[in-house]
Amino acid sequence: MPVEDVALRPASLADYVGQARLKEKMRVVLGAARARGEALDHLLLYGPPGLGKTTLAHVVANELGVGIRVTSGPAIEKPGDLAAILANAVQPGDVVFIDEIHRLGRAAEEHLYPAMEDFAIDLVLGQGPSARTLRLDLPRFTLIGATTRPGLISGPLRSRFGILEHLEHYTDEELADGVARDASLLGFALDRDAALEIGRRSRGTMRVAKRLLRRVRDYAEVAGEDRVGRERTRAALDELGVDDLGLDRRDRTVLETVIVRFAGGPVGVGTLATAVGEDRATLEEVYEPFLIRRGLLQRTARGRVATAAAYRHLGRPEPVDAAGPLQGGTGT
Ligand code: ADE
Repeated sequence: MPVEDVALRPASLADYVGQARLKEKMRVVLGAARARGEALDHLLLYGPPGLGKTTLAHVVANELGVGIRVTSGPAIEKPGDLAAILANAVQPGDVVFIDEIHRLGRAAEEHLYPAMEDFAIDLVLGQGPSARTLRLDLPRFTLIGATTRPGLISGPLRSRFGILEHLEHYTDEELADGVARDASLLGFALDRDAALEIGRRSRGTMRVAKRLLRRVRDYAEVAGEDRVGRERTRAALDELGVDDLGLDRRDRTVLETVIVRFAGGPVGVGTLATAVGEDRATLEEVYEPFLIRRGLLQRTARGRVATAAAYRHLGRPEPVDAAGPLQGGTGT
């Protein structure tokens, strides 16, 4: 991540923008853990990418005044990898953050159970008949797991988390607050309506808002402006291909393909993926969720269908459908 992102990271819950419901709960559990002088219960954060799960894990460690060890599911292949992380540096009360915890290997996951429950890890020494297990005691720690795919986490692992929290998409105002905070930390003036314009086009995602802010700032700087206003912001975002709803060129290509080449659908996902030159998983996991959430695309049993809102958004006449008007698509 860019160095700037680390510098902009909020240090406390009070600095963390949005997620009001979640913050309120965290205030309670953090306050209770602090009052008892105990490690916080293990915490599972889940929700779409870019909403600030990693940032929140750092905030939690900061609020507790403890250290944080950061790793990720794919980085932990063998039980030994997990043992190395848990045994080497964890001080009592520390946070161990495992990003993409749904990608943890099966063997490592099973070693995590006693670590979470009994604060001990079983190491197997040697091989074959002479193998011995050695139980290593660990200090009490807090595991924070983050995942975009909670359905892929096994029941036994999920049940070992005492606190499970979902992160929500941000409102335009919250995103505007987030970029306003960054602009002020970076030392440049950003008008409120410019911040809102960025918020509106950031698909409810803080990471996107922060990225767009940096690009808009580049445009303003090159134009020699010391204050970023709405017009400059609109022009920069238009030039970047990010439209009023936050769609980029690739998103529009997907919609246009459904409308123009497949008469609005239904079109099978494999066919659509080939037509836009993406693999199926990328289409399903990167492009579609946002288009569906926006009410521009529908997944039906017979394939993908462009909604009336998609036609309107792309400025294309809606077909007169013998089966009746197109479904839905007011967009939120
Ligand atoms: N910086 C301030 N608030 C934030 C949030 N909610 N997510 C990510 N970064 C932030």
